[in-house]
Amino acid sequence: MKRFLLIALLLAPVCGAADLALTPPMGWNSWNKFAEKVDDKTVREVADAVVSSGMKDAAYVYINIDDSWEAGRDAQGNIQTNSKFPDMKALADYVHSKGLKIGIYSSPGPKTCADYEGSYQHEEQDAKTWAAWGIDYLKYDWCSAEKVYKPSDMQAVYKKMGDALKATGRPIVYSLCQYGLQNVWEWGASVGGNLWRTTGDIEDNWKSMSTIGFDKQTGHEKYAGPGHWNDPDMLEIGNGGMSAPEYRTHMSLWAMLAAPLLAGNDVRDMSDATRQILLNKEVIAIDQDKLGRQGRRVSKEAGAEMWMRPLENGDLALAFFNRTESMVTVTAYWEILGLKGKHKVRDLWAHEDLGSFRDAYSAQVPVHGVVMLRVAR
Ligand code: GLA
Repeated sequence: MKRFLLIALLLAPVCGAADLALTPPMGWNSWNKFAEKVDDKTVREVADAVVSSGMKDAAYVYINIDDSWEAGRDAQGNIQTNSKFPDMKALADYVHSKGLKIGIYSSPGPKTCADYEGSYQHEEQDAKTWAAWGIDYLKYDWCSAEKVYKPSDMQAVYKKMGDALKATGRPIVYSLCQYGLQNVWEWGASVGGNLWRTTGDIEDNWKSMSTIGFDKQTGHEKYAGPGHWNDPDMLEIGNGGMSAPEYRTHMSLWAMLAAPLLAGNDVRDMSDATRQILLNKEVIAIDQDKLGRQGRRVSKEAGAEMWMRPLENGDLALAFFNRTESMVTVTAYWEILGLKGKHKVRDLWAHEDLGSFRDAYSAQVPVHGVVMLRVAR
């Protein structure tokens, strides 16, 4: 018993705040669609829409304000909001009244990436201010910190804010945003991080999304788990730069990666296609699987990729992706997946049980599209 307690105590600091982000965080973030145009009214309307669209019931709970809410500081050094956000505490209360949580953004540097006030030399003070407002999530973006710190300072700089957040006593999800520098996956959890960006910024096009999702996550799998996740960046689904099959690939791939699912579109005004993609509960269930094991690529042949993710109940999530410009057929041989005999297969986009298959399952995959399956043990 004593030994168990000791092990638990030793592990505690590595795992970040207890009970936070036990599955990848889900919600909405303002940046991809609104950038600096976000304001109090938009955030309230987005919170309303997250509830009325069914997104809240599907587990999208964090409403995250990205860069551009900040003004300067008062005489005591307290961070001020600009005229777009007249009363952050009132806004947080409103978001909480909907049963949702609210997130905010800052930088360890003097300025944020969009040149607003950062938290440099005000870390504890800002953490206290956010906690007093009722903030539940912080995205902390390196930006101008590169002008005042050396790259080798990065861990200590992120730990400083991680400690400051913990000291507030309020559970605040801590999102590290430094684009994968310094192999952040190796130390992100130890500074209190619940998620860390693995790459530069995503853009709303196939090349950006597919390069980040398929090519830049491999090798980081072992660092993800309950409480601490690799973050391939926010979703672009519904922003208009990709086709429906491409957005289904985006959603499926992020679910296979156990990635945070932060919608980045205008959820007040969603097409049916966008709604169906963001609200596919069977795909969300893969992303949110409690085992928390990040999926990985099993095979790659001329632009056809097969990915696998083990699930808590022993099932396997399987995804066939097509990165080529023509239809491909992909076959999953059970043997390669460590399976034998007959297994039931369910299609998570068609919402259909396909039957039981012996030895293998094959499917045709449309251009830039996906076939996502759940294979029962
Ligand atoms: C960086 C981040 C983006 C966004 C902007 C805001 O580019 O990577 O996600 O937060 O800053 O300025």
